[in-house]
Amino acid sequence: MSVITIKIIGFGIMMSFLFFYSGEASANETQKLFEVKCSQCHTIEYPKSERHDLQGWTDKVNLMRSYGCKLTDEEANKIIDYLTKTYPKK
Ligand code: HEC
Repeated sequence: MSVITIKIIGFGIMMSFLFFYSGEASANETQKLFEVKCSQCHTIEYPKSERHDLQGWTDKVNLMRSYGCKLTDEEANKIIDYLTKTYPKK
């Protein structure tokens, strides 16, 4: 193997670690965002005990925003995405 091949492989491995790590980090961040934002007026068990599809969670989060839950559109989308994956309708 030439030095350049080793460098390219090394770079590839490094990039995949970075990619993996940033994915993990943002998943944890979204969970934290959800836990912080959605436990301000009631316990976190409120949303955790429910199961909805994308439409259902979108409606719920919009309802919470109308109650006064402060979220940017970006935060709302992240939370809706997280809830849809973590607490899907069966
Ligand atoms: C500004 C206050 C507030 C925040 C912040 C808040 N909620 Fe609520 N939530 C309410 C109120 C008020 C109710 C109705 C309580 C009741 O009926 O006892 C409620 C009820 C709920 C329910 C129960 C079902 C229902 O429709 O009444 C769910 C699920 C829920 N919230 C999810 C969430 C999620 C997810 C978040 C974070 C995005 C969140 N809440 C943040 C105020 C809030």
